[in-house]
Amino acid sequence: MAKEVIYRKDYKAPDFLVDNVSLEFDLHESKTLVKSRIEFKKSNADATDCVLYADDLIFISVSMNGELLSIDDYILSENELVVKNAPDEFFLEVENEINPKANTSLSGLYYSSGNLTTQCEAQGFRRITYYPDRPDVMAKFEVTLRGNKENYPILLSNGNLIDSGNLEDGRHFAKYEDPFKKPSYLFALVAGKLDHIEDSFTTMSGKKVALKIFCNPGNVNKCYHAMASLKKAMKWDEETYGREYDLDIFNVVFVDDFNAGAMENKSLNIFNSSCALADPITAVDAEYQFIETIIGHEYFHNWTGDRITCRSWFELTLKEGLTVFRHESFGESVQDRDVNRIGDVVKLRNIQLPEDLSPMAHSIRPDSFVEIENFYTGTVYEKGAEVIRMMKTIIGDENFRKATDLYFEKFDGQAVACDDFVSCMAEASGFDFTHFKLWYSQAGTPIVTSTGEWDKINRTYKITLTQENKPTNNQKEKLPLFIPVKMGILNHEGQEIDLILNGKNLGKETVLHFTEEKTEFVFEEVHSQPVYSLFRDFSAPIIHKNKLEDEDKYFLVKHDTNPFCRWDILQQLSMDILLKSIHDEMVEVPENFIEAFRIILSDENISNSMKATLLTLPSEKEIESNCEFIDHQIIHKVRQEFISLISIKLHEEMMDVFGETYSKKEYDVSAEEIGRRSLHNICLSYLCANGEKGSIHLAEHQYFHADNMTDQYSALNILVSKAGERTAEIVLDNFYDLYKDDISGFNKWLSAQARRDIDNITDKLREIMQYEKFSITNPNNVRRLMGSFAMFNANRFHTEEGYKFLTDVLISLNTINPNIASGLVDHMCSFSKFKEENKEIILRELKRLRSIDKLAPNLQEKIDNALKAV
Ligand code: BES
Ligand code: ZN
Repeated sequence: MAKEVIYRKDYKAPDFLVDNVSLEFDLHESKTLVKSRIEFKKSNADATDCVLYADDLIFISVSMNGELLSIDDYILSENELVVKNAPDEFFLEVENEINPKANTSLSGLYYSSGNLTTQCEAQGFRRITYYPDRPDVMAKFEVTLRGNKENYPILLSNGNLIDSGNLEDGRHFAKYEDPFKKPSYLFALVAGKLDHIEDSFTTMSGKKVALKIFCNPGNVNKCYHAMASLKKAMKWDEETYGREYDLDIFNVVFVDDFNAGAMENKSLNIFNSSCALADPITAVDAEYQFIETIIGHEYFHNWTGDRITCRSWFELTLKEGLTVFRHESFGESVQDRDVNRIGDVVKLRNIQLPEDLSPMAHSIRPDSFVEIENFYTGTVYEKGAEVIRMMKTIIGDENFRKATDLYFEKFDGQAVACDDFVSCMAEASGFDFTHFKLWYSQAGTPIVTSTGEWDKINRTYKITLTQENKPTNNQKEKLPLFIPVKMGILNHEGQEIDLILNGKNLGKETVLHFTEEKTEFVFEEVHSQPVYSLFRDFSAPIIHKNKLEDEDKYFLVKHDTNPFCRWDILQQLSMDILLKSIHDEMVEVPENFIEAFRIILSDENISNSMKATLLTLPSEKEIESNCEFIDHQIIHKVRQEFISLISIKLHEEMMDVFGETYSKKEYDVSAEEIGRRSLHNICLSYLCANGEKGSIHLAEHQYFHADNMTDQYSALNILVSKAGERTAEIVLDNFYDLYKDDISGFNKWLSAQARRDIDNITDKLREIMQYEKFSITNPNNVRRLMGSFAMFNANRFHTEEGYKFLTDVLISLNTINPNIASGLVDHMCSFSKFKEENKEIILRELKRLRSIDKLAPNLQEKIDNALKAV
């Protein structure tokens, strides 16, 4: 039975609310008994049926106000328990059974390497027990856990531990009470053999909070970075948003099998261990940085998500867009600000822009969906964060803080909508956001074209902006958006001039409000030919088509005072070269470009991490988004040749910087050191681009002598792609021997394998899937192998063998874990610009997948969208 489409406009407040729930769990791997006691109150006087949702539950009994109900009193189906003629106030007691071990979907209660753990967002709670499992039903939870003491010495749930003790037959129990009302998706429990580390944090009002991080035995030494990150995040939220933690205890648990990166359950955050554990030997710098921000993200949800939640899943960006914005700001403040901002924009361009160009294009607040799991997307998350950032850019820091204060004050303890958030922005600042709100409902990335015209006689400089909003799959009609343009103007000496608009001096930097299809901004008293610098710090999630002459672009690379714009304009120059080369099927790199790279390499005023960022070319994925016609093999070839040419022309300079950035210092993860390593390794990759022996030797040396994973893994990847197959085999085997027993190391090995540019790649990867160490039920294994293959090895993935391989894996995953399958099917669902022969094969494979028995709704929704778009 196909799942139905549901619409945002059909939202209705719940008929029955819940004040209190108490849950009792008799925990066992394959047979867990759940008993609930739920106190209901009618909130819609006309309602008669009280609906509880269910998914994959074994029903035992239901009673109302202490009396067992008979089958005439309720309707039981696979996904619902409907209690008929429900009174105004009553309590239900329901008993059911579940099998955590059989639960490979990792939604609900499941078993993972000896532990029992839960994931309830978005709709996993109904896989635990019968409940009005929707985010606008908020209740107080009391939870009793009972389990075998030897297998499950640690018993955790949300809130405070209020009782615990031993039971008969080697069992024990723990009872928790969470004083805050919460929706069921924030419920969590963990039971298992876990080690932990402890620390504490004293909040701004002087309350001491006990912090504990739990992990599988043997891993405690890898938890300290996460703990330090947590304390930083707690402090940052107090300083930046005035948000204090609200309980005496905060627990975090790391598990190996987890669909997402992490989850913000109230006072019991659960993390995918791959986003949490770190030591120098097994984690790379990027992982250290990611852990810092994701720990922040889940912690920040305590206010933006838990205390104030979403009234329906259509409003997901209310909590996710805002919390991503908060974690990104946190990242900018504790890591290298500009490099961090650029990193977030790169992510947007690699993940979100392709979504806007695909049949699944949707606005940050979707109007309909079949499966909510399909809408945890770059659009809802990263673009949602950009929308929050734009509001801040428009009203300024002070007003933004006033507005968030107002939001927390007004809506604490409630389930609300995006409109409520924006209304606080408007109320606190006095700014009218009516037009701006279109960003919530309109899908697609606007293309903004800019031109500048200096009028020598009148001494004016006219900047003309036009915006084009192309139709997306389900939304043909588009309107101009409200686009904030943070900008400045440089004179020919590279100095910022005063911005005088309509007789008003706006200083050296301002934010223009670009709200129509076309607007001319005429700046006065401009005495010489200037150059404009637009969309500073990426002030809006748009595509900027700059109509400047190349000469002006190179001028900006050197002189723009905004580091983001310097980087962006260089990216544009690279993109222009790449697109032209793809078109001509011949790569030519202008001397200007090489010169720009040369200057960057030797500029003492640019930090190492910024240099590494500037020297990184747009990815193949970004190139695809800019092509009218996509030939993956040509894109790959051209980009590689471009890198080779740079390598040849700047060999000496790269060698110098490679040498200068060598260090024997003991590993540390300061921003400084991370920057140094990243520049060092990017130079190494350029040096090795042509497989030249001397350089390869340097990489081999680095691989075998590195004392940290960052340097070792960089060298490994370089060798695998540039040193020839024999060397590749040797280092990959060596890496496997070293790290096969470390989950994180093994996953890195999977990625390295998946990126290999070899003829028999799919045979190789199919073989690896048969290894004992590889588990198709583990999302990290699957993503590291299949995700890396499809995303970072386009040259080999976009072939008949590649598509067949992914389809075969998806058929297995359909029953094992539809969520993970759905994340991977994206790679085959946006093919309108592909070569004809590729399109044909994809269509054939998608139809093969579409026709299997019991196709999961996640996959069905995406495949149907893709096929509809043909
Ligand atoms: N609430 C989500 C976790 C989640 C995602 C649950 C999807 C169910 C389905 C969590 O707060 C989150 O957004 N995690 C992100 C990490 C973050 C840094 C963007 C994730 O898991 O990728
Ligand atoms: Zn989140």
